[in-house]
Amino acid sequence: MATKVDYASSSLGDAALEAAYDNALRLVRDAEPKPEQNLVGGLRHSTGEVVKRFDPCREDSLVGAAYAATPELVLQAVEAARGVKKSWAKTSYGERNAMLRQVAADVGDRLVELAAILSAETGKNRLEAFGEAQEVLDMIEHYCTLMEKNDGYLLQQKSTEAEKNYDLLVPYGVFAVISPFNFPAALAVGMTTGALVTGNTVVLKPSDKTPRSTAFVADIFAAHLPEGVINVVHGGAQVGQWLAGSEVDGIAFTGSAQVGWQLFELKGPRGLQRPVLAEMGGQNPAIVARSADLDAAAAGIVRSAFGLSGQKCSACRRVIVDDAVADELIAKIVRLADGLVVGDPADPRSNLGPVIDDAIATRIDQALELARRDGTVHTGGRMFSLPGNYYRPIVVSDLPRGHRLTREELFAPFLSIIRVSSFDEALEEANAVDYGLSAGVFSNEPGEVEQFLDEIEAGVLYVNRAAGATTGAWPGIQSFCGWKRSGTAGKGGLGIWYLPGFMREQNRTIV
Ligand code: ALA
Repeated sequence: MATKVDYASSSLGDAALEAAYDNALRLVRDAEPKPEQNLVGGLRHSTGEVVKRFDPCREDSLVGAAYAATPELVLQAVEAARGVKKSWAKTSYGERNAMLRQVAADVGDRLVELAAILSAETGKNRLEAFGEAQEVLDMIEHYCTLMEKNDGYLLQQKSTEAEKNYDLLVPYGVFAVISPFNFPAALAVGMTTGALVTGNTVVLKPSDKTPRSTAFVADIFAAHLPEGVINVVHGGAQVGQWLAGSEVDGIAFTGSAQVGWQLFELKGPRGLQRPVLAEMGGQNPAIVARSADLDAAAAGIVRSAFGLSGQKCSACRRVIVDDAVADELIAKIVRLADGLVVGDPADPRSNLGPVIDDAIATRIDQALELARRDGTVHTGGRMFSLPGNYYRPIVVSDLPRGHRLTREELFAPFLSIIRVSSFDEALEEANAVDYGLSAGVFSNEPGEVEQFLDEIEAGVLYVNRAAGATTGAWPGIQSFCGWKRSGTAGKGGLGIWYLPGFMREQNRTIV
């Protein structure tokens, strides 16, 4: 079984698994999908407008659909979650863990089916799809283990015979979970599990680009949890706004910085501030010093820039390279990028699938035009030979310093290379963006590595990592903490401080 994902390869390395996946992908694509229902307090609702989702690889083929929730239904879902918040908070973390581990076991039994749905709905290749499915299991186990290690976040204080003192983190109540399209199972599950394992109830809003993948895992949660503990409302941005504008006690969000920071501005019940745990985008740099192993650097950069067609918040978007080795590095990056296979996940050789929809394709086309005007485009661009929105990996250099293509996030297989003449200048350029999610460095000078670790403004750092210059965080191995515009709390998913974000502290002195 695939555990960690090597984005430069796509083979599952197991003939039986390949065959099972091929079969499951065919079934998912061939069957007309039934619209996903909204789930409110254990009841399924199937009324209202149907949001349709077409296969990004074959845009005339329906792969998913969902009934869009109305504002009334969103409020009913919040009420349903509120109705059981006391009983869920009172359920011991051991019992909650047991239910959540049953969810993981069930997902584990259906991993191939989940991987096929993920590929059909997002276009991600088979290895990426299995990686994501596996991440669901690891994510649940990781958070359950954190609860156990911290004894439910209980701190015994000094007690006497006269009084007992302890400090405890307690759940807020109801969390809205708003999940993105790029990891529609793993990220929905990560945020949902974070809320549930800590004793909150949940109203989940899946991305309208991937309703089926998220509903698949949400249904498994619902099968193992008391009614109302997890509720699901489908639809687009407006449904997200209704949910965020309701009296939920907290919001967990993964998506664009633009939306995430708007959520932060909203007030909670009775006008009070409430927690917003938002993980957002990046303009993630990889610095390459003149002492670097250029082969390792090129491999790590290409994996990070083009895995999942660049549709990862941690994707490498800028290479900041010492001028002395820039041309050699560019040649290596271009060679590796050109060697990647772009295609449908049904093709076992495919490294990159299509981008998710026409809107992002238009933005890529515009960016390419701008890059041709203002810099040098070394390789890449649209593939008209295939029916979906497919792009060959794009590598650009020599844009003027501070150019907007090197400052804004473009969720695409689009990499900019920036030349600098010193390590100080490299760090200055790396930090010159508003984002601060992940960053990498390739250097064989210990002093430079130390300077990078001390001065880089980002939350997830990778040093000399050919397996991924800025990407590849995994439950229990890396945490995922955005600084600056990349994260609201500076406490990332998977990290030691993430679960406490879903709770507030209470000291209890009992005579
Ligand atoms: N876990 C994914 C990465 O680090 C998002 O790239």
